[in-house]
Amino acid sequence: MVATSSKYNILDPVTGRLDRRIFVDQEIYDEEMEKIFGRSWLMVCHESLIPKKNDFFLSYMGQDPVIVTRDDKMKIHVLLNMCTHRGNRLARADDGNSKRFMCTYHGWTFENDGCLTHIPGEQEAYYGEVDKSRLGMAEARVDTYAGIIFACWDKDAPSLEDWLGDARWYMDTIFNRSDAGMVAMGPQKWMEQCNWKTPVDNCSDNYHLAFSHYSSMYARHKVSGEPMRGLPDHLAVPNQNHHAFVNGHGLTFRVAQDAAFGPGSQQNLRGRDASRLQKLNDEFTHSKQAELERRLGKYRANQLRMANHSIFPNHVLGFRLALPRGPYQTEFWHFAVIEADAPEELKLARSVGSANQNGASGVFEQDDMDNWGQVTQASKMTVARHYPADISMGVGHSGRTEEWPGEVSERYISELNQRGYYNRWMEFMNADSWRDIHVDPITVQFEGTATFHG
Ligand code: FES
Ligand SMILES: [Fe+2]
Repeated sequence: MVATSSKYNILDPVTGRLDRRIFVDQEIYDEEMEKIFGRSWLMVCHESLIPKKNDFFLSYMGQDPVIVTRDDKMKIHVLLNMCTHRGNRLARADDGNSKRFMCTYHGWTFENDGCLTHIPGEQEAYYGEVDKSRLGMAEARVDTYAGIIFACWDKDAPSLEDWLGDARWYMDTIFNRSDAGMVAMGPQKWMEQCNWKTPVDNCSDNYHLAFSHYSSMYARHKVSGEPMRGLPDHLAVPNQNHHAFVNGHGLTFRVAQDAAFGPGSQQNLRGRDASRLQKLNDEFTHSKQAELERRLGKYRANQLRMANHSIFPNHVLGFRLALPRGPYQTEFWHFAVIEADAPEELKLARSVGSANQNGASGVFEQDDMDNWGQVTQASKMTVARHYPADISMGVGHSGRTEEWPGEVSERYISELNQRGYYNRWMEFMNADSWRDIHVDPITVQFEGTATFHG
């Protein structure tokens, strides 16, 4: 690494050289868990996964297991899944409904708001002298965006709304579409042999599509007639596709002609009867058109659609989690997010379509995971690790625009968002506290009636 007063100087802003040790070094990984996962707002669950009082769902904040609960007043809590006596894990089922959690070691019992309410032998063994109020489960800050539950351990972090900032303007086009709310279907879970940052880096990498996914695209083209898109399409200027970077979040989006995203637009649907599903989708989209325009305004409803994206630090392509499991392993949790009032048949078709693409055995995911594993392996090798990675594409060719919030690249194919991501990583890793971390102000007007919470 280049010697400076900052501990981490891993990216040269001019040459785009990136130090590979951040993908494999155990000490750096351990520091990431404290400085990034201990300070960031993290997606942990979706409200639709805990719809009723006393529902719970097990999740993770980085490596730490948490229980996401709804108490009997419907308030959401995110609690460290650890008994405060010796540290036994309290909840073991992936999800369920329970008013309280009893530790299987010595029987301490906690309510689903985290309060410790029962200690066996409290009067006799502890002489009635234990203060239960100081032994409740550790609880994170909680907020929701359009039904997605986020949590944060750091009391000095900004609000979730400021954390997402102008990125929400794009995110609304996927996550904030319906008066009835959205539902999350899943998860599929699997392990990949790669560092957790590599799939995040890949979210704004549209350079690889024409190569890595050629065979997958060709197969889909032959089977279902979907159009092939090659590098010339991606490199073309002007282009309907763009990149933007906001607060660590890497966004790609598509700008189309008026009403291009209405009935008849391409959807990722899978089921037995493709034409019936497309018809069902068209009818549903048509029935929701006026509502969508009211919620997001005409421009975002009809002309703008967020595409591949990452939300800092580890949220990839939607409500999907890339959970760190050591420097060389990442656990993926894949969900599909769909309008709650869509017909059940359509929900299933979109969920299957989403998994068909980026689930554990998704045709695109399998192409990607091979690349990510190789990239991580190379960073471990004795000679190879001394050669930096290169993310120089488009240096100096981005800026602010009148039309779209964030730092926007001139061309669609660019590594702007990767450079922004690793710069954000450095900012967190070099910061002693949130006092040293900046957040861009919200500048955009949010047209329409959709609010931050849904
Ligand atoms: S570790 Fe939980 S009651 Fe002892
Ligand atoms: Fe890919």
